Amino acid sequence: RYQAVIFDLDGVITDTARYHYLAWQRLADTQGVHFDEAFNEHLKGIDRMGSLELILAASPRRYTDAEKLALATEKNEHYKELIATMTPADLLPGATAALDAARAAGLKIGLASVSRNAFTVLDRLGITHRFDYVVDAGTIARGKPDPEIFLKAARELGVVPGDCFGVEDAVAGVASIKAAGMFAVGVGDPRVLAAADVVIPDLTAFRIPCTAITNKTTIT
Ligand code: G6P
Ligand code: MG
Repeated sequence: RYQAVIFDLDGVITDTARYHYLAWQRLADTQGVHFDEAFNEHLKGIDRMGSLELILAASPRRYTDAEKLALATEKNEHYKELIATMTPADLLPGATAALDAARAAGLKIGLASVSRNAFTVLDRLGITHRFDYVVDAGTIARGKPDPEIFLKAARELGVVPGDCFGVEDAVAGVASIKAAGMFAVGVGDPRVLAAADVVIPDLTAFRIPCTAITNKTTIT
């Protein structure tokens, strides 16, 4: 039934969610803003400027647009340092097998990450060639939870949204998949990702069809 699978990148295929966290943590520290794992959870899947706005909202200071841009650039430079040393060993457990399984099942494979560093990360992981289409985050007007990015991936893959399923670790990402009218596989904590159709702890539990994952009633 399904014809395409569209993956998120950060936190699903590789643990860059950790690097984003470290980079935002350092930035928050320089601005005297309290930042922790719980706060970071809200930033997952949120684009760079959107994340910065959420962090700065916790500061009593007012920032000009130029200052915001400088801070976002500073965070990104730190993030780029962190990802520069990545190798295929940084693929999360089950990631390669999940991509193999999708390919073997004849599914088109897309990537829908709002990260402008996604192409670099895919290259460092050595998996660029495994995707039929990778959305260029620079072409997306509205980030997750808006459905735009998943809809664009489906359109470029030539598959209607209802025949796609999306794989996401973030609350905003699951919301984006559901708003696009797709089946949502959450990766992580089922209490956090309650809006997903099924939740798996990590990609080692990824199965096709995803309806074979049985922790929730699913469609057939
Ligand atoms: C992903 C991550 C977010 C990050 C966003 C933008 O969605 O989950 O944490 O803020 O990408 O990444 P970028 O590399 O463009 O700053
Ligand atoms: Mg993610």
